[in-house]
Amino acid sequence: LTASVTVDPAFVVGPVRPRTFGSFVEHLGRCVYTGIFEPEHPSADADGFRHDVIDLLRELGVTTVRYPGGNFVSGYRWEDAIGPVDERPRRPELAWHSTEPNLVGVDEFIRWCRSADVEPMMAVNLGTRGVQEALDLLEYCNGAGDTHFANLRRANGSDEPYDIKMWCLGNEMDGPWQIGHKTAEEYGRIAAETARAMRMMDPDLVLVACGSSKSAMPTFGDWERVVLTESYEHVDMVSAHAYYYEEDGDLASFLASSIDMDHFIDSVAATADAVRASGKHSKRIAISFDEWNVWYQKRAESKVPEGDDWPVAPVLLEDKYNVADAVVVGNLLISLLRHTDRVHSASLAQLVNVIAPIMTEPGGRSWRQTIFHPFALTARHAAGEVLRLAIDAPTQETAKFGAVPVIDAVATHDPASGDIVVFAVNRATGEDLELAVDVRGASDLQLVEAVTFAHSDPMWQATADDPDTVLPRANDSATITGERLTAVLPPVSWSMLRLA
Ligand code: AHR
Repeated sequence: LTASVTVDPAFVVGPVRPRTFGSFVEHLGRCVYTGIFEPEHPSADADGFRHDVIDLLRELGVTTVRYPGGNFVSGYRWEDAIGPVDERPRRPELAWHSTEPNLVGVDEFIRWCRSADVEPMMAVNLGTRGVQEALDLLEYCNGAGDTHFANLRRANGSDEPYDIKMWCLGNEMDGPWQIGHKTAEEYGRIAAETARAMRMMDPDLVLVACGSSKSAMPTFGDWERVVLTESYEHVDMVSAHAYYYEEDGDLASFLASSIDMDHFIDSVAATADAVRASGKHSKRIAISFDEWNVWYQKRAESKVPEGDDWPVAPVLLEDKYNVADAVVVGNLLISLLRHTDRVHSASLAQLVNVIAPIMTEPGGRSWRQTIFHPFALTARHAAGEVLRLAIDAPTQETAKFGAVPVIDAVATHDPASGDIVVFAVNRATGEDLELAVDVRGASDLQLVEAVTFAHSDPMWQATADDPDTVLPRANDSATITGERLTAVLPPVSWSMLRLA
């Protein structure tokens, strides 16, 4: 197979946005307890946070972290988890049929964000609660005056306001599984009124309305239209969530998952623009792709406890990822970057243990899953501006998406340094791809790094005992002559080619 790509620094989509490299911490399974927080762990700090995990988070390059859910937030009383820890109530947690001990709440989370050097993205409960409780939380977090909840925060040890900019107005309110699930009309109204009131307290917030939980939702499209018709002037972004997995051994369709993500983003952007036109609005609504990943939802790992079993921090959604999963994650990140004009924020869901790039053993090791690698390399090296590419490639037939180009790629160009980075996947299931990249204006640039993540067995998984057998490796086939960069990309692979 051969393919050609043209990279021209003149064709700019938009800036590389730090918030594209966000992640997500939910009170779900072992994400918080024995994930980020484990006071007994040898690496834990005085607040109980595992520093081995913080070190991996830094290596991963995560910039923002969404919190505290997820489905969890729709039944959450944030006041339960402030003040003296031994006075905090334990609660039945309905979304994941667990017991929430409330040992970690907003104050601890903000301290963790400060020590991990990430921006918090807070979600309010619009499932069982409404405008007032969202305002109370906002006052508690950002209040600078001599008022009740701001003083309560001070009494709990934080003089300085948290100054949280990004706020999610609920979570997946289109989903019948959501506590307090609503119709688009019901949700659009409460989102608009919550946003309007929150802005009265702090006009500079970045507010995200719930979009669809996946593109296959029966309400997809209509949901965004109705919600934005109600809330357009009051919100800045609409969310999108998508999880992909290989089904029935159909690797080719799975590898083409970014086709769905492209379609999702394009459809939501078109719908938002239609509401903009009919409502005579001037601003544009951006997309917060604040849950995305590979998630094998039908596997036993995702089975929530039942009956009388209400465990604290059970093993839940602890998917083990293989090489093909990592190629898909790298490809989804290519799609998010390609849409940087519209996608202003994104969160890999989730960060630790729960469908996560980072895994931990209670009291023990932490390790990187396969999906860690393409994310970390993209977060580290995508810089400056995202470029629109011309791609000419053969196609591969897929059951879900028809004929799909075997290669997907994006490039970034840093106008300050002149550096150009190409990120590319070979989605062919059985053949090498000879890639030729025409890099316009690159005659002064050297190929400084060419790495590929692949394995002869795309089903190879990292484990705690063997996390590093398959790592991104130098791709020795890559060369540049003048403006022509060539490389051989093995089947089911993700690659990064860096020119400086
Ligand atoms: O990330 C896991 C779950 O997926 C989240 O709680 C929910 O928002 C989504 O359905």
